[in-house]
Amino acid sequence: MKKVGVAILGLGVVGGGTYKILTEHREFYKKNHGVDITVESVLERNEKRALELGVDKSKLCSNVAEICSNPEVDIVVEVIGGVEPARSFVLAALNSGKSVVTSNKELYCKYSHELEKTAKKNRVGLFFEASCVGGVPVIRSMLDNLQGNEFSSLMGIINGTTNYILTKMSDGGASYKSVLEEAQKLGYAETDPTSDVEGYDAAYKLSILSSIAFHTKVPYTEIYREGITDIENVDVEYGKQLGYALKLLAIGKNGESGIEVRVHPAFIKSSHPLANVNDSYNAVYLTGDCVEDVMLYGRGAGAMPTGSAIVGDIIYCALHPNHSYSTFKNTEKADANTKFVKNFESEYYIRLSAEDKAGVLSKITATFGKHAISVAQFVQDKEREGGKAPLIVVTHITKEQNIKKAVADINATGLAKVDAVIRVIS
Ligand code: HSE
Repeated sequence: MKKVGVAILGLGVVGGGTYKILTEHREFYKKNHGVDITVESVLERNEKRALELGVDKSKLCSNVAEICSNPEVDIVVEVIGGVEPARSFVLAALNSGKSVVTSNKELYCKYSHELEKTAKKNRVGLFFEASCVGGVPVIRSMLDNLQGNEFSSLMGIINGTTNYILTKMSDGGASYKSVLEEAQKLGYAETDPTSDVEGYDAAYKLSILSSIAFHTKVPYTEIYREGITDIENVDVEYGKQLGYALKLLAIGKNGESGIEVRVHPAFIKSSHPLANVNDSYNAVYLTGDCVEDVMLYGRGAGAMPTGSAIVGDIIYCALHPNHSYSTFKNTEKADANTKFVKNFESEYYIRLSAEDKAGVLSKITATFGKHAISVAQFVQDKEREGGKAPLIVVTHITKEQNIKKAVADINATGLAKVDAVIRVIS
């Protein structure tokens, strides 16, 4: 029987889940996959946590060099997160002939070119299914099962923390701030939640997923990014009345004008499958030229779901010794021939507060007309605060820059103020 020794760098939430899965399923993998996987080494400073998880003291080590020189270790699992020291540890492992499985989206997004080059040079494997969307098998689905397709788009809810916050704001009317505090108490959001709520986490994942989907490097610096920190309950409520759900969406498109990549809050029609992806669940909706639409749905974070993706990679690595690598030219920067669409098109929801007097509405509509913006829906709420009437405008498809110019012009009139602009996905 094939024997495979694993080292785990970091016994946090995901590392702990991976350890538990590997130890509890050892006999199952022997029987069903013909491979005996053992955890030979663990790099973890918190000895108490390691011992509580059942790690034998003899397997605990305090530096990566010990792991790199351990002949019993074939595969190193990196679940530390962040760039350093994870990058140095992964490079050291690859250079000492170990295959690497990582869940680290920031590291893979920023340094995949360097890691892949090092893995190829050393003829070892480099696997990263767990870096995107936790337990949802989107990377290998694109690389293997769906590789016959040319993808025109991918759209996803790929951050669990923000989806949990937006779901709770929509369900109970609680404010962003109070739901964030609740998410932190539940352990979904970090003490510093910036990466999740400002959309960085989703942008790292979108960079990885769109590079694979479109067969070219899509650096995260090319991604338009906007988080959820300015979302107000009033817009979630108006959106519901208009038949929309509010989500933090990651969108990648590949068309004649180039590649369009963006992460931002968006209203989706409540009949769209993504509108029903709630709480900390994630989903990716892919459109390929042969398969048409495919949606992969499941838990995008957490010890066991992310551990499931890591263990899947370990078994795949063990059973496929001739390693293959990503299907795009994995360079640091985008290929010079790749064009990125910045002035993208969308429908828009715009909330304004306007002076409640004659002529104001016609000035607003004239401004939209001046910027070639066609209005699809106009709702004036009867509720008035301080003589101001809330107006909701939903546009037909228009260019982002035209909206920006119209918003600046409306605000400059002094008669109305744009309070919120949210893109709408039809
Ligand atoms: N912070 C991430 C999320 C964890 O909330 O989705 C998984 O990458």
